[in-house]
Amino acid sequence: MKEMLQRIKDETLSKISDSDNLDKLNEIKVSILGKKGELTQVLKGMKDVAPEDRPKVGQLVNEARAAIEEKLELKIKEVNRKILSEKMKRESIDVTLPGVRKMTGHRHPNQTALEDLERVFIGMGYEIVEGPEIEYDKYNFELLNIPANHPAKDEQDTFYINKEILLRTQTSPVQARIMEQGKLPIKILSPGRVFRSDEVDATHSPSFHQVEGLVVDKGITMADLKGTLDQFAKSFFGENTKTKLRPHHFPFTEPSAEVDITCFKCGGKGCRVCKGSGWIEILGCGMVHPHVLEMCGIDPNEYSGFAFGIGLERVTLLKYEIDDMRLLYENDKRFLDQFQ
Ligand code: DAH
Repeated sequence: MKEMLQRIKDETLSKISDSDNLDKLNEIKVSILGKKGELTQVLKGMKDVAPEDRPKVGQLVNEARAAIEEKLELKIKEVNRKILSEKMKRESIDVTLPGVRKMTGHRHPNQTALEDLERVFIGMGYEIVEGPEIEYDKYNFELLNIPANHPAKDEQDTFYINKEILLRTQTSPVQARIMEQGKLPIKILSPGRVFRSDEVDATHSPSFHQVEGLVVDKGITMADLKGTLDQFAKSFFGENTKTKLRPHHFPFTEPSAEVDITCFKCGGKGCRVCKGSGWIEILGCGMVHPHVLEMCGIDPNEYSGFAFGIGLERVTLLKYEIDDMRLLYENDKRFLDQFQ
């Protein structure tokens, strides 16, 4: 018995010494100290040992067990240290190598322009609201004074889903939606995507963005409209910018106007940006047509209002002196990275 214990102990200790990985060490542990391990079997065989010898044999078994456990523990520590040091060697950082540059995103120029624009109007007390891109004909045309056979409808010939539903051609339907709610006064700005069946070229796209403005209150006049747009042009394009209203026609405003600003590039002398005229057209506007107010449930004898619609891409292209609208949609990083 004594010899057998000595043999198990010696063999195991030398096996431990020769092992160089954790799996092997675990195998040894199980094969000796596990439930069916050799040493465990010896302990189970104690019943066959003469009672007077049992304390002695028990002591020998315990000694062997302690020696093996101690050796195992030391060896496991050693192997772990080796693994760690190899890992550290493998993962060591060469601080002289060039770094890996992380790509971070940034705002699209259209978004930057929109946020600048919104800031100007929020500063004047406007609330930003949104309307649906899929819209009823009723809001997109009918309530804006554009009945079934109106020629303005042809100009905006567009994407119909069925007879009553279409992709909105303008953000103006938000005007009707807000007025219809009946909460007065109104002072809103509504940016969003619009759709028209236009061919793609340097100034057209089947999908682009507009920013709609609407103010309705008692005693609103054209002077309020002019003052508001003046302030916007100065804040957005620069303090020296002047505005000019040119008579125009929109079915839902009366009177209507298009607004030109003095060219921010040449100050009005005439250059490439303003095509020599000194002026640049930036938006359409007017006093809300009394019939539109009425259709939306507002008494035109008590209330009046003004509205305007800005082409977002148009002001973005102008502000950043970009000469082709397609650049805004192509997502070419070489272009976009210039606006970080
Ligand atoms: N919705 C018009 C368009 O798409 C732009 C416009 C003109 C909006 C005059 C307005 C406005 O609110 O008063 O051409």
